Amino acid sequence: MNKKKVLSVVGTRPEAIKMAPVILALKNEQWAEVRVLATAQHRQMLDQVLEVFDIEPDIDLDIMRPNQALTTLTARLLLDLDDVLQAEKSDIVLVQGDTTTVMTVALACFYHRIPVGHVEAGLRTGNMQNPFPEEANRVIAGRLARWHFAPTESSRQNLLHEGIADENIVVTGNTVIDALWMTVAKDLDLGIELDPEKRLVLITSHRRENFGEPFRNICRALHTLATRNPDVQFLYPVHPNPNVKDVAHEMLGDYQNIHLCEPLDYAPFVAAMKRSYLIISDSGGVQEEAPALGKPVLVLRDETERPEAVEQGVVKLVGPNYDRIVEEAQRLLDDESAYRAMARGVSPYGDGHSAERIVKVLREHFV
Ligand code: UD1
Ligand code: UDP
Repeated sequence: MNKKKVLSVVGTRPEAIKMAPVILALKNEQWAEVRVLATAQHRQMLDQVLEVFDIEPDIDLDIMRPNQALTTLTARLLLDLDDVLQAEKSDIVLVQGDTTTVMTVALACFYHRIPVGHVEAGLRTGNMQNPFPEEANRVIAGRLARWHFAPTESSRQNLLHEGIADENIVVTGNTVIDALWMTVAKDLDLGIELDPEKRLVLITSHRRENFGEPFRNICRALHTLATRNPDVQFLYPVHPNPNVKDVAHEMLGDYQNIHLCEPLDYAPFVAAMKRSYLIISDSGGVQEEAPALGKPVLVLRDETERPEAVEQGVVKLVGPNYDRIVEEAQRLLDDESAYRAMARGVSPYGDGHSAERIVKVLREHFV
């Protein structure tokens, strides 16, 4: 059989986590020759994930530079992609999410007339400034893609409103839940010593629109919560972006019940989510995973492209707002019934079979 060449692209940590189930499922398909392109927009954090899922890139652009600017990252990627796409002659290219890698690959494929499948299509806030630059990235990728793998019905509706043809959209669920269940099934070891008697608050933060004063507000709120709750431990794996890392260490570095650490490998991070009482985060992926694990999330943003968990009452938006973060976190620490109302274990983003659905669409098209 003449195999079809499928090029799966990963650039950052969340892309690798969410693309891994698709890559692994494609590798079982007789009709597909699977190739993996790492732009390595992230270096260490991408490598961490690829190792967990035992995926070796066929091509690695090693593009990351310290504190990279969006324009130079985009320009350098576009140039490198020209050569890759020319050489690969792929029948389809798969991208995931809304990073600079995704937008740039979609554009380069358009120029090379290669069809693109967009995994996690149709997420929208409707505000180009929030999240920045991700809303623009996914709008552009969505305009250029041939296949739209929408995680939920509401993401499908967003695409229909933008004029995307219904027959090109398939609701698949989010592959992040596939990755989560694959990982939960393994032996999970957090690898960090915690007091078993004390509750754990897990924190992550990295959004560009929060850089500067909003991020300092977040740190002030965490500081206040840690002071008021000496019997609670706070674990914060700090994102390596210097705009986050330097401020987090400056403002929270020497605090007895706040433990700052390097980004955790995916399996230990899942262990940390499972061990946590409450999660405070601006991460997209964490907003999807934590509800499935029954953990309440306070989201450090004013808007979200993931409204489903908010509507179900298991995720709450608190913004990068000092008063709201302190008030809502304290309520969940003090008020058991408020806590139980949010810690319900619902999974609006997937059932763990999303990659199978994506592969089925491609099989039916190519075979
Ligand atoms: C990127 C994505 C964002 C995604 C996030 C996930 C864009 C514009 N942003 O944000 O949508 O939510 O990844 O984490 O695509 N760095 C390292 N090592 C790493 C990774 C990053 O040192 O493994 C540092 C580097 O200094 C790098 C900087 O972080 O220049 C920023 O990386 P970049 O990918 O541009 O943006 P993120 O903030 O990570
Ligand atoms: N994650 C991880 N280690 C960490 C923090 C997060 O493996 O120290 C995982 C998390 O479980 C989720 C993904 O990384 O699947 C989210 O990535 P990130 O928050 O960087 O990006 P976003 O989802 O906001 O695009």
